[in-house]
Amino acid sequence: MARLLLPTAARRLLGASAARTTARHLSTSPPARAVLYDHHGPPDQVLRVADVAPAEIGDRDVCVRMLAAPINPSDLNRVEGVYPVRPPLPTAVAGYEGVGQVHALGPAVDSLSPGDWVIPSPPSFGTWQTYIVKPATAWHRVRADVPPHYAATVTVNPLTALRMLRDFVNLTPEEEKNKLKQLGAEQVFTESQLDIKNIKSLLGALPEPALGLNCVGGNAASVILKILRQGGTMVTYGGMSKKPVTVSTSSFIFKDLSLRGFWLQKWMNSDKAEESRTVIDYLLDLVHEGKLKYEMELTPFSDFRLALEKALGKHGSRPKQVLKF
Ligand SMILES: NC(=O)c1ccc[n+]([C@@H]2O[C@H](COP(=O)([O-])OP(=O)(O)OC[C@H]3O[C@@H](n4cnc5c(N)ncnc54)[C@H](OP(=O)(O)O)[C@@H]3O)[C@@H](O)[C@H]2O)c1
Repeated sequence: MARLLLPTAARRLLGASAARTTARHLSTSPPARAVLYDHHGPPDQVLRVADVAPAEIGDRDVCVRMLAAPINPSDLNRVEGVYPVRPPLPTAVAGYEGVGQVHALGPAVDSLSPGDWVIPSPPSFGTWQTYIVKPATAWHRVRADVPPHYAATVTVNPLTALRMLRDFVNLTPEEEKNKLKQLGAEQVFTESQLDIKNIKSLLGALPEPALGLNCVGGNAASVILKILRQGGTMVTYGGMSKKPVTVSTSSFIFKDLSLRGFWLQKWMNSDKAEESRTVIDYLLDLVHEGKLKYEMELTPFSDFRLALEKALGKHGSRPKQVLKF
């Protein structure tokens, strides 16, 4: 049986922060609305929004009211059936990361309180729904004084970026400085700008990079390889162009380049699950201090179709879509 939460009338009297807690004595979750699929295929054809029955809240479970969840490329790849790890079918709820607020707790849960903000950590299937029930151990409490769309997206992209910057090449302090400058986007070159014969004249006094990060493949990856310094490393973590990475023989012989890969899901499922929660807290501290920013577009869950079309690139360029519940 779930713990008794504040009744609605009392909650209203307690003001805004208390009002974030919810109001019911629950042995099941409220009915939820979810984005479901029964078989793999093009996301705009197989995904449907539907009501789902309330879920039982067990002794050690936590029911979370979702606040925000992004549409990441890997979410779409799971729906398409081309991602290596996918939820079982038929009938899966889509989505993999997000943030929510504790709505009700099983009686044996003392690690969380109603109103806490939590993220699934490691991320796990089924975040595109209004209420989720999972064991308390699946949730990680995060600070609630950052914009919810940052808490919703902190794992898949920022944690990947941080790991790739830290885990492949030991950057010197000077390179660290350059890296931070780059994070501050003091110098930005597009793929077509870099796709010229005399790259050196464009890059000017910038030192040749020791580390290149590739999520596109095809020509974009070739450009990265071209500007890496002697002995540099390129880490591939995505393949948006769906084109292979091709490397010239001379890159290996004369520049001794290293090609590596990174997959967050594998990293988090190793012995790093606990460490990743500490790093997520650090990243959200940076958000709170205004030091970590990235662009997102918030779309109400009721406009899911529109958000999906944008994520699929049907409206031109694709700003990161975050569903707001
Ligand atoms: N390995 C890992 O652990 C890991 C972790 C996180 C992300 N990823 C991968 O990293 C990639 C990017 O993820 P994200 O969340 O940053 O995606 P995102 O926010 O949707 O951004 C995707 C970017 O790719 C660009 N793009 C799309 N199609 C392209 C094409 N054919 N050629 C060149 N650029 C193209 C888009 O440009 P426009 O805006 O101009 O369309 C957009 O800037 C995905 O493949 C994702 O699966 C991997």
